[in-house]
Amino acid sequence: SDSLKVAIAGLGTVGAGTVKLLQEQAELISMRCGRDVTVTAVSARTAGRDRGFDMTGIAWFDDAVEMAEKADADVVVELIGGSDGIAKRCTEAALRAGRHVVTANKAMLAHHGTELAALAEENNAALAYEAAVAGGIPVIKALRDGLAGNRISSLYGILNGTGNYILTTMRETGRDFADVLEEAQALGYAEADPSFDIDGVDAAHKLAILTSLAFGSPVNFDAVTVQGIRNITSVDIEYAELLGYRIKLLGIASETEFGVEQRVHPTMVPINSPIASVEGVYNAIVTEGDWVGRTVLEGRGAGAGPTASAVVADIMDIACGRHGYAFGVPVKALRAHEVGNLDQL
Ligand code: HSE
Repeated sequence: SDSLKVAIAGLGTVGAGTVKLLQEQAELISMRCGRDVTVTAVSARTAGRDRGFDMTGIAWFDDAVEMAEKADADVVVELIGGSDGIAKRCTEAALRAGRHVVTANKAMLAHHGTELAALAEENNAALAYEAAVAGGIPVIKALRDGLAGNRISSLYGILNGTGNYILTTMRETGRDFADVLEEAQALGYAEADPSFDIDGVDAAHKLAILTSLAFGSPVNFDAVTVQGIRNITSVDIEYAELLGYRIKLLGIASETEFGVEQRVHPTMVPINSPIASVEGVYNAIVTEGDWVGRTVLEGRGAGAGPTASAVVADIMDIACGRHGYAFGVPVKALRAHEVGNLDQL
């Protein structure tokens, strides 16, 4: 059958990685989808730069919004980033034009996820975002599809690769915070604004998305209580170790008598617990479901390879006609819980 045409907005670490993956694995992807997946258009801030892939036959757009409206494409992949601005306008334009959207933009979904999911539904388009949470770990598919028969009572995990890389490297080498952060930036793990990583905001974005999926509630980023790792020192890490603990930045969502509570903060976890041995750029998510029991997912949470892997999985779902409701249920079925905010308890 016809090939699936893909337009990519944003050619940073993840965007360029996605084009390369689609080109290098073209044969495998085509075999698995029963059709070719072709990049027909790209857009980025700077033209003409060599990004390590073949531009033959790919149309260039200076303006991502114009590309979303006019490109010869079935799917628009939004990899620009930022909760508002061009990323959101590009996403809305694509959905209004009835094109499917694949995005890695957790900030945008944390702030506007419910409204964008409604727009996708109105236009019979997919809004897919596996790459937005925990990099290469298929946690969105796990919660939405694999665990769909369960009520989830709690979930927690390591949701920021940069932060976990910093904590791990500080512990292993005794190097200081700023020095290790620079390294994480050089490796392409950190956000454009790295304060989002170290102040827990990025983990909170991801937690708000997972909470919506797991508990069937509208995305509520404002209800997340957030504390980051900026003030953790090597001495803290050493003392925790002496006491038998490791310090991890955790995102936690659980049902309490006050409703679903969402929080992100540094946590002392026992050294023998599975989450303590999740180190470096790895992320992990632990869920409790009423029929399945405990499920643990682990994998690399940041970087070009894992994130492109998740983006491509979403594109392949669309190529195969597999796409459901963005948050697992129709938007009108999302039920606001009394959301407990720790500050108010
Ligand atoms: N800055 C993010 C992280 C990238 O370090 O986890 C992946 O979302």
